[in-house]
Amino acid sequence: METVVSGIRSTGYLHLGNYFGAIKNFVKMQRENNCFFFIADYHSLTTHPKPDDIHGNIRQVLAEYLACGLDPEIATIFIQSDVPEVVELYLLLNMNAYVGELERTTSFKEKIRKQPDNINAGLLTYPVLMAADIIIHKATKVPVGKDQEQHLEMTRRFARRFNTMYGVDYFPEPDAYNFGRKLIKIPGLDGTGKMGKSEGNGIFLADTPDEIRKKVMKAVTDAGPSAPGEKPSEPVKNLFTIMSVVSDSSTLKYFREKHTSCEIRYGEMKKQLAEDIIKVTTPIRDRIIEILTDKKYMAGVVSAGAEKARASASKTIREVREIIGYKPF
Ligand code: TYM
Repeated sequence: METVVSGIRSTGYLHLGNYFGAIKNFVKMQRENNCFFFIADYHSLTTHPKPDDIHGNIRQVLAEYLACGLDPEIATIFIQSDVPEVVELYLLLNMNAYVGELERTTSFKEKIRKQPDNINAGLLTYPVLMAADIIIHKATKVPVGKDQEQHLEMTRRFARRFNTMYGVDYFPEPDAYNFGRKLIKIPGLDGTGKMGKSEGNGIFLADTPDEIRKKVMKAVTDAGPSAPGEKPSEPVKNLFTIMSVVSDSSTLKYFREKHTSCEIRYGEMKKQLAEDIIKVTTPIRDRIIEILTDKKYMAGVVSAGAEKARASASKTIREVREIIGYKPF
């Protein structure tokens, strides 16, 4: 039995990328491991959400998490800011995280490009907080999508550095949990990059069937293959990737063959893709709506989760303080 930690930022609705990149795995692994799943609401502050929106965002993501099949009876499901011990570990780890390595992080460089007016220190130290989230429970496995691979590598480095600095074998170095497959990246519908919460290229689990049909029909494609056997262009490859996670293998095979033989009609492919996405999301969406009406249930989940997560986190903090050299008078 491994200890697993994973989080999702409470920055917006969950999309197919979150589901297939991470959450679907959570559902499987919770039965076999000691799992901590949390909503990273401290991390969401890097983009300065309004106080009026914070609680609603967390509630929505919590309902979506639960609707995907996370089970509070077997996993510890909690809100990051309910466990302030993580902030102490974050501060301690910051003392041996170097500005140079943080500045070189791909996600930080991307943020500089995307939000040049808000390059705050929280963005710079984002990977340190993420490392604290993980190692505070001494996790050995972290289920993440491809985009978080570098953050996980940094987590291992910070854990190793702490051990070396204090001459201990205290923090394990966690690996990605990927069922022996490569980490996956679900692309967006805009023909480039990964599906994201704020890129305007995503299908959300809470989208209605009509919204899904509209979005998929508008997805970027190309003018069609011009010769048999031609490789699909990037946007079309992306649609095939989404199809590979939502559709039957026979459907995927059918459209791949149509592409190879230049007979593909993208309209037909998109129609099928939309219906297959709807098949996946509809039961989840129904549960989201149901869970959102049950405030008492959600309150119970997070308070039980916070209690379990704090018990685990405060034990680590006690031991870390001792290792660092803090002593009671
Ligand atoms: P976040 O909220 O951006 O994404 C949550 C999870 O979804 C995965 N994901 C994807 N996977 C495949 N294709 C995509 N298009 C796609 N988009 C998102 C992410 O890899 C992630 O697993 N920094 C984290 C949150 C976090 C965390 C942690 C995760 C904070 N502390 C500790 C694990 C452990 C993040 O921003 O995830």
